[in-house]
Amino acid sequence: MSERSINRQWVINGSPRGRALEPSDFALNEVELGPLEKGRVRVKVEYLSFEPSQKGKLENISGYSGGAKIGDVMIGRGMGEVIESQDAKLALGSKVFGYVGWQEFADMPRSALTVLPEDDLMLTRLGPLGSTGLTAYFGLLKVGRPEPGDTVVVSGAAGAVGSMVCQIAKIAGCRVIGVAGGPKKCAWLVEEAGIDAAIDYKNESIKGRLKELCPAGINVFFDNVGGDVLNDALTRIAPHARIVICGGISRYEQETLPPGPANYFNIVFRQATIQGFLLSGYESEHAAALARMEEWIRAGRIVYKEDIQHGFENAPTTLMRLFSGQNFGKQLLKL
Ligand SMILES: NC(=O)c1ccc[n+]([C@@H]2O[C@H](COP(=O)([O-])OP(=O)(O)OC[C@H]3O[C@@H](n4cnc5c(N)ncnc54)[C@H](OP(=O)(O)O)[C@@H]3O)[C@@H](O)[C@H]2O)c1
Repeated sequence: MSERSINRQWVINGSPRGRALEPSDFALNEVELGPLEKGRVRVKVEYLSFEPSQKGKLENISGYSGGAKIGDVMIGRGMGEVIESQDAKLALGSKVFGYVGWQEFADMPRSALTVLPEDDLMLTRLGPLGSTGLTAYFGLLKVGRPEPGDTVVVSGAAGAVGSMVCQIAKIAGCRVIGVAGGPKKCAWLVEEAGIDAAIDYKNESIKGRLKELCPAGINVFFDNVGGDVLNDALTRIAPHARIVICGGISRYEQETLPPGPANYFNIVFRQATIQGFLLSGYESEHAAALARMEEWIRAGRIVYKEDIQHGFENAPTTLMRLFSGQNFGKQLLKL
C-alpha cells in the first residue's frame, strides 16, 4: 500500500455536444484510497494518452465511443506501475497499460491490463505500437488497399494516426501527399517522415495543390478530418479510388453538422469506394500487425513524434490541444 491515501481524479462535469471542450467540463476530485479488493491491482498512473474520441465519449455518442455519465472518472488510457497487488499473477513493479482513467491511482482487475515489456519502446505502446498504429495499419492496408505506385493522400497527416498512415503507405511503395496545419508540421512530414509532398491547409489552397501534385488523380484518400478537405479530395479521385473515413475532426466541435460533401457525385463517375472503419474490427490480427510495426520502427523505416505535456492538473487542457492542432505527434501527459 502506498503511503499516500488520497487519489486525485478528474471527473466528468459537462457534456460538450455541439461545442468545443471547456475547462468546466471537468472537475477535480479527491477521494480516499481504500483497501485494495481481492483480485485487483493498484496502478500508480504515470502517463495518460489522449485521443479525439474522448470528446465523443463525453457527448455520449453511441456506437462510436460508448457512453459516460456526469461524475464518472474521465475515461482514458494510460500506463503506470503496479504498486500493490491482490493478484498473484501480477507482480509489484510491473509496468501496465489499460483504461486507467484520469486519476493518479487506478484499482483494476488484471484482465483489464496489458503488461508492458520494459524496453526502449515502452511509451511507444501508447501510440505507434498501440491503437494509434493499429488504426493506421488496418485503415490503410485493409480498407485503403494501396498498390505500389498509387498516389495516397492523407489528411491530419502530421497527427498520431496520420503520420503512421503516411509512412506505411511509403513502405507499400506509394507516392504520399500529406495535408497538415502549418509549415513546421509540413516540413517534418517531408524531411523526417519522408513523404513526397505536404499541403499546409492553413496557408495553401488544398484544391489547387492537389491539382498540381496529383495529375493522375488520388488512388487512396485516408481522411481524418472531413469537411472541406474531403470535399476537395473528391474532385481529384482517380478511377476506382478508395476513400477511407477514419475520422472527421473538423466537425467534432460544430454546433450544426455540415452538409454532406458537394462533390460526392465524383464517387459515381470514378466508380470509387468510400468506407468507414473502426479499429475494433481486427482484434485477431493485432499481434501480427504490431510485430510488423515494431520491425519498421526498429529499422528506422517509421519515425514518430510524442508530444508530452506535464502535470496531472493539466489533463483537460492537454485533451483540448488535439482540437486546436497544438499537439505535434502522439499526445501524452506525464503525471
Ligand atoms: N476509426 C477509428 O477506429 C479511429 C481510431 C483512432 C482515431 N481515429 C480518428 O483519427 C483522427 C486522428 O486522431 P489522432 O489520435 O491521430 O489525433 P491527432 O491527429 O494526433 O490530433 C488531432 C489533429 O487533428 C487536426 N485538427 C484538429 N482540428 C482540426 C480541424 N478543424 N480541421 C482540420 N484538422 C484539425 C490537428 O492537426 P493540424 O495541426 O494538422 O490541423 C490535430 O493535431 C481523428 O479524427 C480520430 O477521431 C479513428
